Amino acid sequence: AMEFRALFISFSFFAVTCTEPVKFIDCGSVVGKVTAVDITPCPKQPCELRKGQSYSVNVTFSNVASQTSKAVVHGIVAGIPIPFPIPIEDGCKSGIVCPIQKETSYNYVNELPVKPEYPSIKLVVEWELRDDSSKDLFCIKFPVQITS
Ligand SMILES: *[C@@H]1O[C@H](CO)[C@@H](O)[C@H](O)[C@H]1NC(C)=O
Repeated sequence: AMEFRALFISFSFFAVTCTEPVKFIDCGSVVGKVTAVDITPCPKQPCELRKGQSYSVNVTFSNVASQTSKAVVHGIVAGIPIPFPIPIEDGCKSGIVCPIQKETSYNYVNELPVKPEYPSIKLVVEWELRDDSSKDLFCIKFPVQITS
């Protein structure tokens, strides 16, 4: 009985701490290559985003060179991209040391705040990081469900 309990506890622990990589679509990363997207917390997919909470987004990418980087985020509702404001647009203040070097792997880490006034809908988040000439360093899309 003791062993079974221990096993149960370790399984629950595993379920809470282990987040699998988020399934994403590359929507035209021009110069970069995205290898992983992590959203925390997101125990099951599509990620459930609770109103009033903030989520950490961690994108691993490489193969680019740029002095600057700027994030542009949209929520796509019924095919229409709607601006999804994030507090820090500057990618160079989001875990990236600029200038961005070629052939180096970077982790872009930012917060996605979910405002209480957002509607409770399922939508696709499109997250772009643009370089000096406004080309996409990366562009990713992933589905989310906003809940109250
Ligand atoms: C982002 O993800 C990478 C790769 O999974 C990991 O090594 C890094 O620690 C993460 N960074 C943060 C701030 O979560």
